[in-house]
Amino acid sequence: MITPVEFKGAMGLLCSGVSAVTTTAENGAPRGIIVSSLTSLSADPTPLLLVCINRSSSLHDDIAARGKFGVSILSEDAHDDSARLCAYQPEKRFDGISFFWGEYRVPLLTHALVNIECSVHEAITRQTHTIFIGGMLSASKQDLDKKPLVYFNKSYRSIAKSIC
Ligand SMILES: Cc1cc2nc3c(=O)[nH]c(=O)nc-3n(C[C@H](O)[C@H](O)[C@H](O)COP(=O)(O)O)c2cc1C
Repeated sequence: MITPVEFKGAMGLLCSGVSAVTTTAENGAPRGIIVSSLTSLSADPTPLLLVCINRSSSLHDDIAARGKFGVSILSEDAHDDSARLCAYQPEKRFDGISFFWGEYRVPLLTHALVNIECSVHEAITRQTHTIFIGGMLSASKQDLDKKPLVYFNKSYRSIAKSIC
């Protein structure tokens, strides 16, 4: 069996996109964290995605209580937003971040490739994390010329040119 540190060292070499998962607090204020665990699950018959959220995260109980969450797949120009969502206290994170309210009153980030709203379809807890399976309620693409924000080996990166 390997240690948690070895596990993190191995999984840190999985290159991923960077997404903001968002919802509202009990008082209706926007809340969010950064995730790399976004995965497409199934398109048919219900369009489903999943995110793995640490149970100790400020967002975990807000998603469970609200039953809805947003996913903004971030573009390169969201680098500062991403740092802000990681660094500040939950109630201060949206000061200085450009966002708008989706059709289902979920906060969504402006600097994104696509903005998605979901309702919680299922929540499965395993050890420290809950897998929230979201049924997609809306998906709106932004500027198709934007490039994704990428995370690899503990740093934010740009995508390289296409190789084939
Ligand atoms: C690139 C990156 C990816 C992350 N991915 C996840 C993730 O998939 N799930 C998760 O719960 N936290 C993830 N985190 C950590 C959260 O963004 C957040 O810092 C943590 O949940 C603590 O949140 P809190 O301060 O609101 O409690 C990631 C952080 C970074 C920088």
